[in-house]
Amino acid sequence: MKRELAKEKARELLSKMTTEEKVAQMIQVTYTDGGREGALKWAKLGAGSFLHVLGDDARELQQEAMKTRLGIPVIFGIDAIHGHGLNNKATIFPSQLACACSWNPEVARKMGEVTAREVATDGLHWTFSPVLCIGRDTRWGRVNETFGEDPYLIGELGAAIIKGYQGEDLSDDEHILACAKHYLGYGEATGGRDAYDTEVTERKVREVFLPPFKKAVDAGCATIMTAYGFLDGTPLTANRRILHDVLRDELDFDGFVITDWDNTRSLVWLQHIASDMSEASIMAASAGNDMIMTTKEFYQGMLDALRDGKVDISVVDEAVLHILTIKYEMELFEKPEKKGEPGCFGKQEHLDASLDAARKSVTLLRNNGMLPLGGNVKKVAVIGENADNVRAQYGDWTYFTHPVPDPENTRPAIRPYVTLWEGVKEICDQSGIEAVYAKGCKVRPIEGQNEDADLEEAVRAASDADVIIYAVGDVIPQFGEFSDRADLNLSGRQFELFNKLKETGKPICTVLISSKPLCMGDTAEKADAVICGFNGGMFAGTALAEAIFGKLNPSGRLPISFPRHTGQIPVYYNQMPGWHGGKYNDLPIEPLFAFGEGMGYSAFAYEDLAVDANLKLTVTVKNTGDQDGVETVQIYQNDSVSSVLTPVKRLIAFTQVALASGESKVVEIQLSNDDFALINSKCEKVVEPGEFTVFAGHSSKDEDLISIKINL
Ligand code: GLC
Repeated sequence: MKRELAKEKARELLSKMTTEEKVAQMIQVTYTDGGREGALKWAKLGAGSFLHVLGDDARELQQEAMKTRLGIPVIFGIDAIHGHGLNNKATIFPSQLACACSWNPEVARKMGEVTAREVATDGLHWTFSPVLCIGRDTRWGRVNETFGEDPYLIGELGAAIIKGYQGEDLSDDEHILACAKHYLGYGEATGGRDAYDTEVTERKVREVFLPPFKKAVDAGCATIMTAYGFLDGTPLTANRRILHDVLRDELDFDGFVITDWDNTRSLVWLQHIASDMSEASIMAASAGNDMIMTTKEFYQGMLDALRDGKVDISVVDEAVLHILTIKYEMELFEKPEKKGEPGCFGKQEHLDASLDAARKSVTLLRNNGMLPLGGNVKKVAVIGENADNVRAQYGDWTYFTHPVPDPENTRPAIRPYVTLWEGVKEICDQSGIEAVYAKGCKVRPIEGQNEDADLEEAVRAASDADVIIYAVGDVIPQFGEFSDRADLNLSGRQFELFNKLKETGKPICTVLISSKPLCMGDTAEKADAVICGFNGGMFAGTALAEAIFGKLNPSGRLPISFPRHTGQIPVYYNQMPGWHGGKYNDLPIEPLFAFGEGMGYSAFAYEDLAVDANLKLTVTVKNTGDQDGVETVQIYQNDSVSSVLTPVKRLIAFTQVALASGESKVVEIQLSNDDFALINSKCEKVVEPGEFTVFAGHSSKDEDLISIKINL
């Protein structure tokens, strides 16, 4: 159904609703704290939505909702953020950060499409995804949920996955609503502290944090989720300027806005800007939040405020109109139990999509010639807990971690999945190579547990092999919400184990299986090869092993910079000029690994960069290696003189090109004036005439780029 017709129907229904029915429609109830009885009570009351309920439980609630006076169907939301991971039958993809290593919008779109099908087949309608936060302070626990540190790359991948989730028509049974989150600036909290203060100006908001959300709105994203934090002292949940004036009047957003978890109540007990629930309810609704996540006290709080004449019913009417319009557009009234293809969980096409995403995300960061492993290798030792730890490989927001935490890891891992050890073992078995595994130390040591014997066993296994594959990283309790880190060094005895393995004199390939960049120190600097896998999903082991043995030519590129030391943060590539000395006096100037960095078994050369008067860019890219490969051509710009400081370079375009060994291609990219715009001191988006430098190349590193000057 088209939006205008849906809005008309919504207006008509709204006119028949009582005040109680309207306020109830704004409430989203969680199944995890009220359980079945509590949820049924709210369904009878006419709650507009439920979250974290699956399958038959959802169907029961919908049937209850359909019995209410006006029979308004509920909408079910869930955190399906790299697959419908809260359901243990579903396909689990690489995390957003791992997926972003592919620099491939089609990979993101496909991840969204498959996730939508599996969420829909569960009778659910809406995912709280994508995260469009900017992961620039990697102490933050939720960097794994981002598409990395760059607004342009985040916006491109975010728009793609939204298209995958929503398709072309919200009413079809195989697609679901997307939810761009967390609006706005949530990842930039001071100190990397989750949900803390984001001390940025409105100009910075418009320059850095708003662009990905504009792309999401332009991609038709149906819902937006408000961020926990606050901008310059005003919580987003209470920030009408950002939530209404910017989002609706400037970006032309026409869907509905939901708060984050219990954010309305936080205004009272945590952020202390409301004295009671009635005041908080008025604030949240008046700021432009249409749906209230899990704060059930909003119901009575808003009714009290309306009764006491403290707020006009028009505030509620506007919110309910936004919600009902989307419900009509999805044809939820006609198909309250709409669901996708029965039993499509984990069908082969879906599993293939997860493996394809994993293959395109593998990022080779260092290789002194050790890889790909060749015929002279007779025995491989795979070492490290994370080489055989599917929980670490999956990362956050799967059935291991949600909807309720499981600190004792009681939930069984459901096949299919392939760990790094299993992937290596499979190739070795096929190739007549012996393979052995030893855990060595735990990533996160258990208090008082002596691991000496485990380390000795790992060193013995390594000493007896020709090469070592050593997995390092982090584990579930070390990341996620409420789980920021002050020290990003590899935890436990991971460094010590590396040094012992190094003493064996065998070549070592370090594989990072982690939620985000960690300070890898010698495990990167002194390894013969380094591969980044992050949380690579179900088949990360297959993809990593294929890269190690040369069955896959890695094409991943980093979407985020790696600090050498936690104190080096913020280390993102698009820094401002002006730092006296430009570096800490106790660290090298560069990050450990740079944004856009990644290599394969090919090599690529760039020449003849040109930009014509219509801003059409051409550059010749040649595969100078002896293997066919895929190159991600990255285009950056720098504004030579600008009225406000602008970054030393900023990504404005990228594309991928497949090149056979020895092949050259002229790559064409159409740039636009917008790529050279800045936000001036009056918060206006302008292109200031003058000289710009345009860069093209293999990564954000100066040595990987060629450049020309242009004048606009
Ligand atoms: C959480 C997260 C948000 C998630 C929501 C529902 O607190 O901040 O990203 O979608 O609650 O689970």
